[in-house]
Amino acid sequence: MFDRLLTNVRAATMSARGTDALGIIENAAIGVTGGKIAFIGPENALPAGAKARETADGGGKWATPAFIDCHTHLIYAGNRAEEFEKRLQGISYEEIARAGGGILSSVRATRGATEQELFDLALRRMKTMLMESVGTFEIKSGYGLDLATERKILRVATRLRDETNLRIQRTFLGAHALPPEYEGRAGDYIDFICTEMLPALHAEKLVDAVDGFCENIGFSRAQIEKVFKKAQELGLPVKLHAEQLSNSHGAALAAQYGALSADHIEYLDEEGVQAMEKAGTVAVLLPGAFYFIHEKQAPPVELLRKHNVKIAIATDHNPGTAPTLSLLLMLNMACTLFHLTPEEALLGVTRHAARALGFENVCGTLEEGKAADLALWDVSHPRDLCYCFPRPAV
Ligand code: NIG
Ligand code: FE
Repeated sequence: MFDRLLTNVRAATMSARGTDALGIIENAAIGVTGGKIAFIGPENALPAGAKARETADGGGKWATPAFIDCHTHLIYAGNRAEEFEKRLQGISYEEIARAGGGILSSVRATRGATEQELFDLALRRMKTMLMESVGTFEIKSGYGLDLATERKILRVATRLRDETNLRIQRTFLGAHALPPEYEGRAGDYIDFICTEMLPALHAEKLVDAVDGFCENIGFSRAQIEKVFKKAQELGLPVKLHAEQLSNSHGAALAAQYGALSADHIEYLDEEGVQAMEKAGTVAVLLPGAFYFIHEKQAPPVELLRKHNVKIAIATDHNPGTAPTLSLLLMLNMACTLFHLTPEEALLGVTRHAARALGFENVCGTLEEGKAADLALWDVSHPRDLCYCFPRPAV
């Protein structure tokens, strides 16, 4: 006896077991028990006499796994529209950051906001993303850069998880930028992260993973490595903002620490790709940030394919480089700007995005035993989700 039985759908299971890239099952039925998929297959393969407490007719729509946004900075206050205007006048993202704007401007606003204000702002953003069937989120801290504010952000992420019942990975991004009180003392700030901030937040059970920003305007490899060592000691998985504006060889460092993902990676070279292949590190591509800051160099998609590095796509929602809440638009941009195929893009917000979070055994495909996180789409084929921008008619 299923709790729920959905019939008359066309399923793009995203499972590797399918014969085509999307693992398509026509005339499918999906049985759900205890929040998990108990049966998925052609309707005519349903066990004889299968019953369900609730049944629904999918009306021939397409079923996919609910989407997974595996890289967001959803919790912050303020906005950076003035910087957007400056960049339109030709001032670069890097120049704005070096002049004390950029991430630090969001840090000032976030430090000044209450926990409730941050919760309300983030929930509104999440609700917008839910309209596009995002069922799993990754949410980073990194706009606090002091213990009290990083704690405030991670507590908001925890409340979002508990109150929405969605799957959320909370990532500590203390090594995002150098806070003003540590100006000229980056080494001391990294020590503060490693000896105080991360251990305290971990002890409070607020951290699921650890991220950093390895870049000229962020932190060096040696500094990031210290943070990774501490994460490893605490048993936390790592990931990294790497090769976004230059080749700092961050992805190879991340791979050396078994990173879940290396993200952005526009300037990644073949050596870095090979390191990621060896470690099984997922390449998270962020076309919204690439587009918004007028980046010229696209990530090395051909090399990622050549070395069979799994590719995920995310919004990178943040106030500075990607104020977008549309994962569907990212599908289109991944195809148009990075030349991904629609199949690659769709796997990038399902199966491979799950892997980028270490959730590959939990969600991201429609398979028996996986979470019953379903999205239903009234389109003629899943590729329409990439073709129309920002989204098909609903
Ligand atoms: O993913 N590059 C670092 N972090 C963010 C941008 C943060 C910001 O500008 O506020 C990113 O692009
Ligand atoms: Fe980011």
